Amino acid sequence: MKMSSLVCLLVAGFLLVFPGKLSPAPVGDSADYLADDPRVCLMCHGPGSGMPADDVIHGVHGFVGNEASPFAEGQLGCQSCHGPSAAHLGRNEEGRRPLPGLVFDERHPVEKRDAACLSCHTREAGAHWEGSLHEFTRVSCTGCHKVHGGRDRTNASAGNTEQCLTCHRQQRAEIQHAFSHPLRSGQMQCTDCHNPHGGPGPAMMFEHTLNDQCYQCHAEKRGPFLWEHAPVAEDCSQCHRAHGSNHRALLQARTPWLCQECHMAPFHPSNAESGLGLPPNGASSNLMGKDCGNCHTQVHGSNHPSGSGLTR
Ligand code: HEC
Ligand code: HEC
Ligand code: HEC
Ligand code: HEC
Ligand code: HEC
Ligand code: HEC
Ligand code: HEC
Ligand code: HEC
Ligand code: HEC
Ligand code: HEC
Repeated sequence: MKMSSLVCLLVAGFLLVFPGKLSPAPVGDSADYLADDPRVCLMCHGPGSGMPADDVIHGVHGFVGNEASPFAEGQLGCQSCHGPSAAHLGRNEEGRRPLPGLVFDERHPVEKRDAACLSCHTREAGAHWEGSLHEFTRVSCTGCHKVHGGRDRTNASAGNTEQCLTCHRQQRAEIQHAFSHPLRSGQMQCTDCHNPHGGPGPAMMFEHTLNDQCYQCHAEKRGPFLWEHAPVAEDCSQCHRAHGSNHRALLQARTPWLCQECHMAPFHPSNAESGLGLPPNGASSNLMGKDCGNCHTQVHGSNHPSGSGLTR
C-alpha cells in the first residue's frame, strides 16, 4: 500500500511537470498505476507465457535512448498505453481479473484509445486528426497500426497501398483502369497524395488544395502562364481522375467530348462530334481530326505571345 501511494505521488508530480507527455486520465476498472512496470507485467506476459507481449520492447517503442519512449526513464512503461493497471494483478468481487486500464478494442471507447496514442504523437498525427474522416468513422489509430508483433504494417517503404485497399474497395477498382498513377506497381503509394491522419483541405490530402497536391510532382503545370486556361488553375480534377481512367492521360472523358462539356460554340463551331457527315453540312472542318488537342496543344496554358487560343 505504501509503495503504491508513493507511486501515485510520483505520477501526480510528473503530471504537474510534464502534463502533455504522459498517458491520459485513468479509464476502465482500475485507478492505480502499478509500480515496477514493465518488469511486473512481463512476469505474466513474458516470452513463452500464454499471452506474450514483450515484443513491444524490442520494437521502435522500446528504444529507451529516446526520452519520449514509453520505456524510458520517468515514463509509465506498458501503462503509457494500457493505462493504470494495478488492479489487473488482483481479482474483483466476482473473482475475475479486472482489465488493465485500457485495452484496444470495443471494450473501451475509441476516443480514449486514440487519446493514449495522441498523448505522445501530437506532431505526426495530431494536427488534422480531429474531424478527419478516419477519426469521424472511428477507424482509430490501431485500425492501421500494429504496436505489438514486430514491423508496423503502415511503413511506406514496405508499401501501405494494399492496407488502404482492404477498406477502400472503390479505389481498388479505380486503379485497375487502363491509365492510372503507378500505384499497382508500387512505385507510388496512396500516401503520396493522402495523409491518413487527416489534412488541411479536401479529401485528406497533405496540401491545402487539390492543385497544390498535384504541383508537388507536376510543378510545370503551376505556371505562371501568359495565357492561362481557367479550369487548370482552378481544379485539375475537372479534367483528370487521379486514381485512374480508361481514357489516356487519366482524363475524365475523351476529347473532344471533354472540351465540349464546357465549350459549345466558340470561335469555330464545335458541335458534338458524331463521326458522321462532312462540312459544310456535317461536323466542322476543325473537328475532322476528331481531337481539339490536335490544334489546342497547350491545354494547360501557353507562354507564346500569340498563344491566347492555346494552340502554341
Ligand atoms: C499476475 C499475472 C499478470 C500480470 C502481472 C499482468 N497480467 Fe495482464 N493478463 C494476465 C492474464 C492471465 C491475462 C488473460 C486475461 C484474463 O485471464 O483475464 C491478461 C491479459 C492482459 C491483457 C489483454 C486483456 C484483454 O482481454 O484483451 C492486457 C492488455 C494485459 N494483460 C496487460 C497487462 C499489463 C500492461 C500489465 C502490467 C501493468 C499486466 N498485464 C500484468 C495476467 C497478468
Ligand atoms: C505503444 C503502446 C503500447 C505499449 C507500450 C504496450 N502496449 Fe500492449 N497493446 C497495445 C495495443 C495497441 C494493443 C492491441 C493490439 C496491437 O495493436 O498490437 C495491445 C495489446 C496487448 C495485449 C493483448 C495481446 C493479444 O494477443 O490480444 C497484451 C497482453 C498487452 N498488450 C500487454 C502489454 C505489455 C505487457 C506491455 C509492456 C511490456 C505492453 N502491452 C505495452 C499498445 C501498447
Ligand atoms: C509514451 C509515448 C508513446 C505512446 C503513448 C505511444 N507512442 Fe508510438 N512512438 C513513441 C516513440 C518515442 C516512437 C519512436 C519514433 C519517434 O521518435 O517518433 C514511436 C513510434 C511510433 C510509430 C512509428 C513506427 C516506425 O516504425 O517508425 C508508430 C506508427 C507509433 N509510434 C504508433 C503508436 C500508436 C498507434 C500508439 C497508441 C496505441 C502509440 N504509438 C503510443 C512514443 C509513444
Ligand atoms: C488509415 C490508416 C492510418 C490511421 C488510422 C493512422 N495511421 Fe499513422 N500512419 C499510417 C501510415 C500509412 C503511415 C506511414 C506514412 C508514411 O510513411 O508515409 C503512418 C505513420 C505514422 C507514424 C510515423 C510517422 C513518421 O513520421 O514516421 C506515427 C507516429 C503514426 N502514424 C501515429 C498514428 C496515430 C497516433 C494515429 C491515431 C491518431 C494514427 N497514426 C492513425 C496510417 C494510419
Ligand atoms: C479500417 C478501414 C480503413 C483503412 C485501413 C483505411 N481507410 Fe480510409 N477511410 C475509411 C472510412 C470508413 C472512410 C470514410 C468513408 C469513405 O469515404 O469511404 C475513409 C475515408 C478516406 C478518405 C476520404 C477522405 C475525405 O475527406 O473524403 C481518404 C482519402 C482515405 N480514407 C484514405 C486512406 C488511405 C490513404 C489509407 C491507407 C493509408 C486508408 N484510407 C486506410 C476506412 C479506412
Ligand atoms: C495522385 C494523387 C492521388 C493518389 C496517389 C491517390 N489519391 Fe485518392 N484522391 C485523390 C484526389 C485528387 C481525390 C479527390 C477526388 C476528387 O475530388 O475528384 C481523392 C479522393 C479519394 C477518396 C475520397 C473519395 C472520392 O473519390 O472522392 C478516397 C477514399 C481516396 N482518394 C483513397 C485513395 C486510396 C485508397 C489511394 C491508394 C490506392 C489513393 N486514394 C491514391 C488523389 C490521389
Ligand atoms: C507523388 C508524385 C505525384 C503526385 C502528387 C501527382 N502525380 Fe501525377 N504522375 C506522377 C507519376 C510518377 C506519373 C507517371 C509518369 C509516367 O508514367 O511517366 C504521373 C502521371 C500523371 C498523368 C499522366 C498519366 C498518363 O497516362 O500519361 C496525369 C494526367 C497526372 N499524373 C495527373 C496528376 C494530378 C491531376 C495530380 C493531382 C491530383 C497528380 N498527378 C499528382 C506523380 C505524381
Ligand atoms: C481543361 C482540361 C484539363 C485540366 C483542367 C487539366 N488538364 Fe492535364 N491534360 C489535359 C489533356 C487534354 C491532356 C492530354 C494532353 C496530351 O495528350 O498531350 C492532359 C495531360 C496531362 C498530363 C500528361 C501529359 C503532360 O502534359 O505532361 C499531366 C501530367 C497533366 N495533364 C497534369 C495536369 C495537372 C497537374 C492539372 C492541374 C494543375 C491539369 N493537368 C489540369 C487536360 C486538362
Ligand atoms: C471545366 C470547363 C472547361 C473544360 C473542360 C475545358 N475548358 Fe477551355 N476554357 C474554359 C474557360 C472557363 C475558359 C475561359 C473562357 C474565357 O475567358 O472567356 C476556357 C478557355 C479556353 C480557350 C481560350 C479561349 C479564349 O477565349 O481565349 C481555349 C482554346 C480552350 N479553352 C480550349 C479547350 C480545350 C481544347 C479543352 C479540352 C481539352 C477545354 N478547353 C476544356 C473552360 C473549360
Ligand atoms: C483544326 C484545328 C482546330 C481544332 C481541331 C479545334 N480548334 Fe479551336 N481554334 C483553332 C484556332 C486556329 C483558333 C483561333 C486561335 C487563336 O486565336 O490563336 C481556335 C480557337 C478556339 C477557341 C477560342 C475562341 C475565341 O473566342 O477566341 C476555343 C474556345 C476553341 N478553339 C475550342 C475548341 C474546341 C473545344 C475544340 C474541339 C471540339 C477545338 N477548338 C478544335 C483551331 C482548332
